[in-house]
Amino acid sequence: MTDKPVKPEDLRSRKWFNNPDDPEMTALYLERYLNYGLTMEELAERKPIIGIAQTGSDLSPCNRHHMELAKRVRDGITAAGGTCIEFPVHPIQETGKRPTAMLDRNLAYLSCVESLYGYPIDGVVLMIGCDKTTPALLMAAATVNIPAIALSVGPMLNGWHKGERTGSGTIVWKARELLAAGEIDDRGFMELVATSTPSVGYCNTMGTATTMNSLAEALGMQLPGSAAIPAPYRERGQMAYRTGGRIVDMVWENLRPSDVMTREAFENAVAVCSALGGSTNAPIHLNAVARHLGVELNNDDWTRIGHDVPLLTNLQPAGEYLGEDYHRAGGVPAVVGELMAADMLPNPGALTVNGKSIGENCGDRRSISPDVIRSVDTAMLPSAGFLNMTGNLFDSAILKTSVISKEFRDRYLSNPDDPEAFEGNVVVFDGPEDFHHRIDDPATGVTENSVLVMRGAGPKGYPGAAEVVNMRPSAELLKRGVHSLPCIGDGRQSGTSGSPSILNASPEAADGGNLALLRDGDRIRIDLTKARVDVLLDDAELAERQQALEADGGYRSPPSQTPWQAIFREKVEPLAEGMVLRGAPEFRDVAGK
Ligand code: FES
Ligand code: MG
Repeated sequence: MTDKPVKPEDLRSRKWFNNPDDPEMTALYLERYLNYGLTMEELAERKPIIGIAQTGSDLSPCNRHHMELAKRVRDGITAAGGTCIEFPVHPIQETGKRPTAMLDRNLAYLSCVESLYGYPIDGVVLMIGCDKTTPALLMAAATVNIPAIALSVGPMLNGWHKGERTGSGTIVWKARELLAAGEIDDRGFMELVATSTPSVGYCNTMGTATTMNSLAEALGMQLPGSAAIPAPYRERGQMAYRTGGRIVDMVWENLRPSDVMTREAFENAVAVCSALGGSTNAPIHLNAVARHLGVELNNDDWTRIGHDVPLLTNLQPAGEYLGEDYHRAGGVPAVVGELMAADMLPNPGALTVNGKSIGENCGDRRSISPDVIRSVDTAMLPSAGFLNMTGNLFDSAILKTSVISKEFRDRYLSNPDDPEAFEGNVVVFDGPEDFHHRIDDPATGVTENSVLVMRGAGPKGYPGAAEVVNMRPSAELLKRGVHSLPCIGDGRQSGTSGSPSILNASPEAADGGNLALLRDGDRIRIDLTKARVDVLLDDAELAERQQALEADGGYRSPPSQTPWQAIFREKVEPLAEGMVLRGAPEFRDVAGK
């Protein structure tokens, strides 16, 4: 509850629909919203106008169920005394958009800001789900800063194949290995992958979608328990109804995103992300949301706050279970409650959208299925957070330590004199197409001692930053049982991937980063204790290569294919700083202006 309640005459929508100083414009604003059957009582009297930022459409299957859920949101808004205005958000479908859905996060952000700012909306329900829809809408809510509440569409039901859980996204990495090793054919690949998507909803793994929806709840922007309810469950519709009712009260209370998404709330979200084994896309997105609120948050914070938080959630790709299991085990409140039981939630007093603190909401909640959500004492891993790596190739890159497998540890981190470091020879690929053309060619020279480097895959190089850094070994190595090689890159990695890659390297090769200077055969050292990656070349050699690159016209990226790609490349900032548009974070509280 805030100390600045709103009276009907203060409603923002009154400037459009009930402005005694300008009856002419009021009439013009009103008449077009009356023309489909809304009444004067709904638009111009005591009712707040509540936007429903609709991200579902036929183009966006992960969020399509929101078209159904919006009906329950409307019922909740109407019952609480509000009027609904549902409007479309620029579609984002993670698996369908070329070259990458990430390119559209900032575009959806921009368009949603314009909708919220430019129309008579007093509060908004953010219909979140598929990976980038969540950060896009949280960023827009941050910039506009009108009362806002998020509603997840919910994960799909569990996928099954021959009695085993098949997780969306994660199964693709496995199927890809089986195909490369000749164990399944193309049709078998398709059938295996399709088992992982059995219903409406978003990815049922702890990929970027489940991560970001859970973090939207941990940030305080969803009602407690909202994130994990599977899309087809009846509780999902009930949560939609309650979310619609709550936003109306939030307008009267003037409870705004800047009251909820404080530095304290972000610290909680970072800790919860580790406990979840959350996606490596989370630092990019939360750093971006924070910047639009003027809250300090950087990749060092992720290591400092998150690195030593244990992995509590046994979900694929780091574990074995899926979305339905997560919900039945208690979802986000159980994870938060288990952290609180060990005094590991940084700020239990942080406010949430229901008007209570996260500690009040979750403090007495515990896991209902102790194998799915663990206690701190029975954690899957003692330290599950990200390491923010640095060195002579980049200033910042993220390593998700929770997915370093035993096979990987035994192969690379078993030297007793140097247990957390190893060296290898680099094989460099310029973008995903180059990788696909050459990885299985014996002339490329990939061996079990190789470190695979992907460059030209950052926000400017491959506009939006491709999810391609998790590169599989060559087919020949896979057949010999080598399932992963160390990977480094300036692009991203799918949240559903379990590879121990060093990702999001900033600055990227196409923006002056030293990855552009690497050549095949260079020796690289990766040291997890020091959180460093260094190419074993002296500064003079690096400077010489830099000069040669500049003389050759600099690092080359493919041309932009659309106007937005060109604008995006010109304006975008590095992944480490959230990949936001230069200048956008300077706009704050725009609804009040
Ligand atoms: Fe949309 Fe995973 S592809 S949620
Ligand atoms: Mg993805």
